[in-house]
Amino acid sequence: MHFITGGRTTPRDEMANNVLPAWLHYYKRFEGYGLWAAIEKSTGAFLGWFDFRPQQGCPPGEVELGYRLRKSAWGKGYGTEGSRALIPDGFTEHGVQRVVAEAMVVNVASRRVMEKAGLRLVRVFHEPWPYHIEGEEHGDVEYALTRTEWEQQEADRPPGKTSGSGSVSPPTEQGRRE
Ligand SMILES: CC(C)(COP(=O)(O)OP(=O)(O)OC[C@H]1O[C@@H](n2cnc3c(N)ncnc32)[C@H](O)[C@@H]1OP(=O)(O)O)[C@@H](O)C(=O)NCCC(=O)NCCS
Repeated sequence: MHFITGGRTTPRDEMANNVLPAWLHYYKRFEGYGLWAAIEKSTGAFLGWFDFRPQQGCPPGEVELGYRLRKSAWGKGYGTEGSRALIPDGFTEHGVQRVVAEAMVVNVASRRVMEKAGLRLVRVFHEPWPYHIEGEEHGDVEYALTRTEWEQQEADRPPGKTSGSGSVSPPTEQGRRE
């Protein structure tokens, strides 16, 4: 990956003993939230994953949106498509009040996905990463979309144009894998 972990591979033991149990635990703690596999409908290929879940200590009704796609899937619109599928589902089905997303300042693709999904820039901040990542000196950005802003965007949307449809499986129970 270009930015996340700076290219460091997560050891298998860490995935098995820490990461996966934590991810699976989300489903027990938060009904309707967690991680979703992105599966290409036409081929069944695994493209990557999205997460949409409350972060520890966040205000009630706030969820974080995140994504990691395989390199072969970059630049094909999947990041935008998956985000645009999860956000309306959160607002309409799960009582979400605010969606937040974070990226490195230099991660133009991730920031553009946030913008195309309707989020707006809230702040730039600096927090140390556990390892060196190219561009970290520029800091990180937080984007957000409130329920009120989302409702306004929906009201402004031209008739017949939906915010979340396309070639990636929607965020249903069937789409969830991890
Ligand atoms: C970030 C990521 C999810 C983006 O998903 P994607 O499916 O490649 O993005 P999309 O195809 O939906 O493109 C969204 C926009 O970003 C732009 N974009 C995509 N890659 C870009 C790049 N490398 N540089 C500049 N813009 C880029 C696209 O042109 C598009 O904007 P446009 O419609 O105005 O042209 C994906 O690249 C990825 O998983 N990267 C590695 C992990 C990562 O960085 N995750 C995010 C951590 S916060």
